Amino acid sequence: MAEFKEVPADAALAVKALNWVDNRFPLSKLYKEHLSEYYAPKNFNFWYFFGSLALLVLVIQIVTGIFLVMHYKPDAALAFASVEYIMRDVPWGWLIRYMHSTGASMFFVVVYLHMYRGLIYGSYRKPRELVWIFGCAIFLVLMAEAFMGYLLPWGQMSYWGAQVIVNLFSAIPFIGPDLALLIRGDFVVGDATLNRFFSFHVIAVPLVLLGLVVAHIIALHEVGSNNPDGVEIKALKDSNGIPLDGIPFHPYYSVHDILGVSVFLMVFSAIIFFAPELGGYFLEYNNFIPADPLTTPLHIAPVWYFTPYYSMLRAVTSQFMYVLVAVVLLGALLGVAKIKMPAPLKMGVLGAAVVAVALMLAIDAKFWGVVVMGGAVIIMFFLPWLDYSEAKSIRYRPSWNVWLYGVFVINFFILGYLGVKPPSPVGELVSQVGTLFYFGFFLLMPWWSRIGKCKPVPTRVTFEAH
Ligand code: HEM
Repeated sequence: MAEFKEVPADAALAVKALNWVDNRFPLSKLYKEHLSEYYAPKNFNFWYFFGSLALLVLVIQIVTGIFLVMHYKPDAALAFASVEYIMRDVPWGWLIRYMHSTGASMFFVVVYLHMYRGLIYGSYRKPRELVWIFGCAIFLVLMAEAFMGYLLPWGQMSYWGAQVIVNLFSAIPFIGPDLALLIRGDFVVGDATLNRFFSFHVIAVPLVLLGLVVAHIIALHEVGSNNPDGVEIKALKDSNGIPLDGIPFHPYYSVHDILGVSVFLMVFSAIIFFAPELGGYFLEYNNFIPADPLTTPLHIAPVWYFTPYYSMLRAVTSQFMYVLVAVVLLGALLGVAKIKMPAPLKMGVLGAAVVAVALMLAIDAKFWGVVVMGGAVIIMFFLPWLDYSEAKSIRYRPSWNVWLYGVFVINFFILGYLGVKPPSPVGELVSQVGTLFYFGFFLLMPWWSRIGKCKPVPTRVTFEAH
């Protein structure tokens, strides 16, 4: 146990109270470590707003969620009407509900931007691998949270969206049908499904999410923040051990973040008050019709933040499997020819490729679609070990990298757009090319990240007072 600290008898009451707490709980220590003596690089730009904004949206979702649960009924016969009751009769219920539904979409807007910042500045690289991995886990859990929340209003899209996605699990060989049954709790999406999704959405998943967010920030504060130059500020410290390019998070960034929060709240309020459905993207029109198990909507599409992945799922047709088989074989042959490895390992790689091809041809394309969709998220976990570039930040990488990352974003948007649209032959072809590009970007990174000459990375961050 640490020694009890004493304060002078004539100290102010607040000082005495704080000392009393500090002797029993590390309040001042935590405040210093994470705020007043957490030294962040002084060259943060607007990309660094999105971490604190993600925290803000998390709080908004939890608080509005608590109030929604007070009036919502997790019962297939009552759920839809209870949401209408919140919208029409509960005082300020419409505001709480629109804050929560808009918050869900804004969460993904903010998190996608936050992840992209990590991508362009190489924030996933040593020593921040765990920060990134916790982030990827947060993203997966956030997707589960949003998916289950979407069933709760029990509208047509809630119902049929869940039906489509849960049925995907039945494509898994052997265990699939039982797994889908376990998730639904019934042979079709029904009251049992609604009850378990409610339970997961309001408590189980948010608990995991909160735990992961705490781990994410603890990991970040252990190693320190990256910055737009990708320069490690801890490499150069003054005589007190403070990074020369570091400034205390509080007050500098706590105040700086108020700007981000203000702009965010303006956009957030504009959507809530003027366009809460956002043209059917934030709240789909079909979801204003109560769930009807006997009437399938003409076109079922997930909410916008899932559509890039949904496109990749739909891209995997039986014909596309032949392309994937060719890619696997080519990859294995190139790997064996170009990478130095012992002969038994070469045989192993070729053997694994042959087994993979046999499985790809034997199992239905629908299953591989699910694998591709899941793989599109899982692959991000491996990013720290795929990038071999000399420079962390895009600022010092060969200039064509900017174009490559630009095309990556455009491709992601196109996939997202196609995922909202009904299937078409052209759309299918474009989404297949887009899927190949998406995976190629990651899987070929060990190769392309070494190409070209990086610009010299400075030892100090670049910063101009403003
Ligand atoms: C609920 C979701 C999330 C919250 C609340 C959150 C919160 C934060 C906060 C407060 C920071 C420090 C401020 C900043 O650098 O912007 C941060 C940094 C970071 N986050 Fe997240 N985050 C979330 C999701 C994610 C996801 C999904 C990823 C990636 C897959 C991710 C990757 C990172 C990385 C790499 C950093 C360090 C960035 C740097 O130092 O350059 N985060 N996060």
